Formats: sequence, structure tokens, C-alpha cells
Amino acid sequence: MSPDEHSEPGPSPGRRRRPRYPGTHPKRFEHRYKELEPDKHPDMHDHIRAQGRTPAGTHVPVLLDEVMTALAPQPGDVVVDCTVGYGGHAEAFLRRITPGGRLIGLDLDGEQLARTGQRLADSLGEPVALVLPGDVPSRGQPPPTIRLYHRHFGSIGRVLGEEGISGFDVVFADLGLSSMQIDDPARGFSFKHDGPLDMRMDVRRPHTAADLLASLDVQTLAAALRTLADEPAADAIARLIVNRRGRQPITRTRELMRLVFEAKGISMRQWRERPERRPGDLHPAARTFQALRILVNDELSGLEQLLRQVPYCLRSGGRFGVISFHSGEDDRVAAALESGRQAGLYESVCEHSITPGPTEVTSNPRSRSACLRWAAVGCRL
Ligand SMILES: C[S@@+](CC[C@H](N)C(=O)[O-])C[C@H]1O[C@@H](n2cnc3c(N)ncnc32)[C@H](O)[C@@H]1O
Repeated sequence: MSPDEHSEPGPSPGRRRRPRYPGTHPKRFEHRYKELEPDKHPDMHDHIRAQGRTPAGTHVPVLLDEVMTALAPQPGDVVVDCTVGYGGHAEAFLRRITPGGRLIGLDLDGEQLARTGQRLADSLGEPVALVLPGDVPSRGQPPPTIRLYHRHFGSIGRVLGEEGISGFDVVFADLGLSSMQIDDPARGFSFKHDGPLDMRMDVRRPHTAADLLASLDVQTLAAALRTLADEPAADAIARLIVNRRGRQPITRTRELMRLVFEAKGISMRQWRERPERRPGDLHPAARTFQALRILVNDELSGLEQLLRQVPYCLRSGGRFGVISFHSGEDDRVAAALESGRQAGLYESVCEHSITPGPTEVTSNPRSRSACLRWAAVGCRL
């Protein structure tokens, strides 16, 4: 048998194979996600949501009620959503701050941002102004209700200057990736589908995950796996990457996933058929993919830039909320909010992080590691 147990025999010479019906367990992305063709499968979104799954091409906002309660957006507020994504939180903010309020959205993913702009415009009946990299927003009178910037959230201070206002009422960030990014094999974020090892949130970044795997030394790779994802087999995985790339570059998500299994000494069949299987079990390659993604996008230093600037971008009485998804992020958020409180920049900070309840985790398993923290500045005279 060929090494890939699931590969199919090729067609016999001279005979052209008919396009095959994908069946009930299709393997190809475009066959698998019928909801990507709503014209052909109009009920698919409802059907998938009823099963507690997220339709491809969409994203379910996590801790939505908790974010709205903690940040209490009011009519007339100016809100910055630093990570617009699919616009789930943004839409909820907009419904609470209009009339009179404004939403300023930022995202690194230009393609998604343009789609979300269109979706928000259709759903709210408001025109959306899009600010592309290198553009300076026009100071139209009055300013638009929704302005979306294709920018890193580390530029929030500059955005404040470009908006020409003294501060925001609410700043919010929902870190990490959207479901659309995770589910798209061409982005290379997930081991679930084969795709190029890209992992850039912003395609203008110079180095992909494949570039890093080709160039980083074994110590740097192992340290990244350990510190960015607590990977217990960090040394073995890093050594195998460096050893394997000497023969052939590692460029595909599935290659990396197989390599992690090999370094951990388990087969995919053993993993699939493990006796003590529980929902939410962490896939053996999950930590490696997480560490690489954080490294490719330099996520932690970007987060620190944001945390440093936010207290100076909030108006009197302003609120700041962050949802993080792993301890590397949450520890930084907790420390920055607490040191801001001690320095008098924040008047109050949440005592404990807020996490999703069992109902949310069941209906949206991707919410399971979400963790919300908030802080508020006092009334400045
Ligand atoms: C979890 S999703 C946000 C989902 C959104 N809250 C919703 O309800 O649809 C995170 C988004 O943040 C973006 N992002 C991550 N890091 C960023 C950064 N440093 N600056 C701007 N956007 C970023 C990603 O591209 C992604 O679209």
C-alpha cells in the first residue's frame, strides 16, 4: 500500500475519469463546504448552525453578550474594533451606538475587510468608508458612521490623530484568527486541509511560515514551540524539521502535520482511534501550528504595542476590552491592565477574566479557550 492510506488509485491509461460525486464524506474543500454556494444550497447555513458548527465563510462572535455588558456601548459613542474580522462584534456595537455613534474598524486582512465592509453596509444600510494602506482618511463632513482601516492595531494612536478626535469611548480587540481564515486552506493556518504553509494574516508581510521553517535554526524553532505554545515535544519537532528540510523544503500544511506526528512517535491512525477520545481534545499538531502563526505575524509584540497606547487613546470614562485565546496573550493583557491601574491610567480593571459558559462552548467549540478582560478609565476633569 502507498504511504497515504487514503490515496485513491489513478485512472488507467487512456481512460478519462468522470468528475466524481463527492458523496457524504467529500475530502476537497470546495465540495465539503456547500454553504459557500448559497444559491445552490440555500438552507445550508441554518442546517450547519443547528448542528453547533460554523458555516464556512462566516465567523460566530465569541462572548458577545459579555463584551456588550462589560463595555456598555451607548448611543453616540465612538468605538474602535481593532480586529473587525467578520464584523460580528462590530455589528453589535453599531446597533447600540447609533444614532449618533461611529464605528472605526481595523484589520490586517485586506480581503476580509472589504467583504465585511460590504456585509455591514448591506445589513445596516449605512455606507462604509474603506481606508487602504497608504491612504489618509478624508475629513468629510460629517464623518462616516463606519470607517474601516486596513491597518495593524499597533497604529491605533495614529488612527486617533487621523480621525481628528481627542479620544475613543470604547476600544475592543478579539485576538487571533477568524473562522474564515482558519477554514481557508489557501491561507495555510490549519492542519485540517492541505495547503501552502503561508499563515500570514497580512499578505504584505515578507515571510511565510514555509520561509521561517526553511531558515530558523533548531534552538530558535524549539524555543518558539516552547514559549509560544507550551509544546512538550518542542526539541524533537525542531530537530526533525531541521533534519527533514535538508532533504526537501517543508512547504505544505499536511507535510508539517505528518512531521509532528513522526516527532511525537504516534501515527495518525493511533490518534484517530485513541480509546480515551474526548470532545475538545487538542490535536497533536495544534501547538506547532499556533507557535508558527504567532511567529509569522509577530503577534505578541503587536499586542504589546496596542496595550501601551490604549490608555492614552481613551476619553474620560472610556472602556477597553480584549479577548485572548492563549496564556501568552492573556498574561500580557492582565499585566498591562494591572500596571495601568497602578499607574492611575485605568480607574478600574476586571478582577477575574470572563470565559464562555458551557452553552456557548457547545454551540461554538472555537470559543472554548476565549478569555475576556476589561479596564475603564475614570472621569478626567
Ligand atoms: C478573532 S477574529 C475577529 C472576529 C470578529 N470579532 C468578529 O466578530 O467577526 C480576529 C481578526 O483580527 C485580525 N487581526 C489579528 N491581528 C491583528 C492586528 N495586529 N491588527 C489588526 N487586525 C488583526 C485578524 O486578521 C482577524 O480578522
